[in-house]
Amino acid sequence: MEKTIKFGVIGCGLMGREFASASMRWLHLQTDLPRPQIIAACSRTDKSLDWFRRVPDTRYFYHDYHELLENPEVEAVYCAVPHDQHAQIYTDIIRSGKHLLAEKPFGIDLPACRSILDAMREHPQVFVRCSSEFPYYPAAQQLFRWYQEGFFGRVIEARFTIKHASDMDLNKPINWKRQLKTNGAYGCMGDLGIHTQHLPFRLGFRVDSVSAQLANLVPQRPCGDGFAPCETYDNAILLCGAHNAAGDRFPMVMEMKRMAPGCTNTVEYEIYGLDGSAKFSTEDANAVWYTRNQGREQAWSRLMLGQKTLFPVITGGIFEFGFSDAMLQMFAAFIAELCGEPCAFGCFRPDEALLSHQLLTGALRAYETGSVVRFD
Ligand SMILES: NC(=O)c1ccc[n+]([C@@H]2O[C@H](COP(=O)([O-])OP(=O)(O)OC[C@H]3O[C@@H](n4cnc5c(N)ncnc54)[C@H](O)[C@@H]3O)[C@@H](O)[C@H]2O)c1
Repeated sequence: MEKTIKFGVIGCGLMGREFASASMRWLHLQTDLPRPQIIAACSRTDKSLDWFRRVPDTRYFYHDYHELLENPEVEAVYCAVPHDQHAQIYTDIIRSGKHLLAEKPFGIDLPACRSILDAMREHPQVFVRCSSEFPYYPAAQQLFRWYQEGFFGRVIEARFTIKHASDMDLNKPINWKRQLKTNGAYGCMGDLGIHTQHLPFRLGFRVDSVSAQLANLVPQRPCGDGFAPCETYDNAILLCGAHNAAGDRFPMVMEMKRMAPGCTNTVEYEIYGLDGSAKFSTEDANAVWYTRNQGREQAWSRLMLGQKTLFPVITGGIFEFGFSDAMLQMFAAFIAELCGEPCAFGCFRPDEALLSHQLLTGALRAYETGSVVRFD
């Protein structure tokens, strides 16, 4: 009989739909992992909920998430709601005994993140991870493998960025991600930060100090017939002092930008070392660039990877990889870890979310006091 894990989705917006779509591509994977079946969906609006009526496995529809949590058939939940609701809904999910794939930033702020971790300690049998898909691009996986193999040698510098540009349209209406109450004081850092942190944290890069430059470039946006205040930071550049397990100390730059001219969703990972360096950009999504130190001059090579995925897929190795493939790989990693199956690169962990919140809270303080914030 087919093995399945029965999921409920809370929050049926942009990411809820991506998640449902990924669940419907399970036959794309060449694994024996149980198939996630989204049997229940919950959203505030009829419009977002109605989209799920076309998901063949979905047979329960709710407006109140408590009802979904009372459904004994639901074993695990994917929750993608605005940040001000993370702490309440995530802790309720954990206390209901259902496994949780949460969304970033895993609580609107540091106290919210801590309250989720407290609920996890009360319910150690519940498996909890946070969504972060970009490290599942084959090139990012290649960087991870090269780092483990010692390709880079002593780390000189590292850089992790995510850059959007849709907000360059000054007529784009306000939404909850631009408002303090719903998105939180981190602004773009809460929205985008984990995308810059999953890979370096997993490599064991730890931040000793941070200084930050934050910018709220567009203080109001269209709302109905008028304008509403756009209170959150649009762009952030964090300059971190970091170290790794080998004891190398190096600068690590993290950039999270909603207003980056010319970008769509550009994610870039760069690691520079004394022996070798490598970089990846979603603008050249199927390639990883690397160079080996051969003395005074170095040449960059462009290695094409195609579908060299963490979990094998039916797609031929020569074909290109994209965002929805990364979602599927991340989903497979969650299921593999949940089932105790091997997984060389797991989803973003709650202890890493705590590191993220400590860093972002420090970055806010650093910018607002014009200082360098140090961590113990
Ligand atoms: N992993 C990624 O790449 C990625 C990308 C975008 C957003 N996100 C994260 O996903 C989460 C949601 O973002 P989004 O872009 O999908 O937002 P969205 O606004 O598109 O969707 C949110 C949905 O949640 C529903 N909702 C709100 N409160 C609810 C409640 N109490 N119960 C049930 N449903 C409720 C809304 O009706 C809406 O349909 C956020 O945490 C965000 O940071 C992650």
